[in-house]
Amino acid sequence: MLHITEKEFKELSEYMKCYYGIYLKPEKKSLVMGRLQNVLSQGHFDSFSSYFEYIYSDQSGEAVKTLINKLTTNHTFFMREADHFIYFKDKVLPYLSSVEASKKDLRIWSAGCSSGEEPYTLVMIMADYFGDRKGLWDTKILATDISTKVLEKAIQGVYSKENISVLPKHWQFNYFNRLNDREYIISDTIKKEVIFRRFNLNSATFPFKNKFHVIFCRNVMIYFDSETKRKLINKFYEMTEPGGYLFIGHSESISRGEVGYKYIMPAVYRKE
Ligand SMILES: C[S@@+](CC[C@H](N)C(=O)[O-])C[C@H]1O[C@@H](n2cnc3c(N)ncnc32)[C@H](O)[C@@H]1O
Repeated sequence: MLHITEKEFKELSEYMKCYYGIYLKPEKKSLVMGRLQNVLSQGHFDSFSSYFEYIYSDQSGEAVKTLINKLTTNHTFFMREADHFIYFKDKVLPYLSSVEASKKDLRIWSAGCSSGEEPYTLVMIMADYFGDRKGLWDTKILATDISTKVLEKAIQGVYSKENISVLPKHWQFNYFNRLNDREYIISDTIKKEVIFRRFNLNSATFPFKNKFHVIFCRNVMIYFDSETKRKLINKFYEMTEPGGYLFIGHSESISRGEVGYKYIMPAVYRKE
């Protein structure tokens, strides 16, 4: 096993923080070393430093994509922090469907969507909510992540039987097709409602034309340093429609007075 020196770990941490806002805690050193072993051995690198040189010089961008795929934590599951989905269905959708009744255009962003469980759940909730009226509304969701590996999985939309077992039976029945004994694929009706894109939340500017009615960015900022988090929340605020919502993870928080969002309930904020 190739060992990462203190200096090399510091270099990698600074790189991840500078470009992706991701803070690699010193105690993550062994984890990082383990996650990158295969990449180093497959590329025949004799040290972490020579691997970094390769990343810096690679013009194709593929080397850095692999690094990101290895170093991001993508753990997610259907119905995670389910109270948010209940609030979205019971409070957010009735509000939005009344204020947007004439335009019928909802803009929802799942930022740090991982393998798609969160955006697909939002689509299924909206399919139920709008029912026969769904065709009259544009409710496409933007779902972004920095990891190409999870985005590929999300686009495939294949989940294990066990993964989807927590979903209401009528969703399992109506919105998934059986692939084999173990796996199910999300139906095209639901899939076509999500636009998956690679996007770095640490980008200096956000290239979105319109503001969002709802932003979900749950369990993403826990990996960021405080300055990146502060800047990101300010950008989210700019990108939220007045009356719109921001959902973050339950283990995350926004300091009072840090931005204009008003606290609604644990991990839910609103722009007044
Ligand atoms: C733990 S998952 C959260 C998934 C889902 N939102 C949830 O709550 O279950 C965090 C995701 O954030 C993504 N991420 C980390 N840094 C990012 C960045 N700078 N830009 C965009 N996505 C990032 C990771 O790739 C990962 O898929």
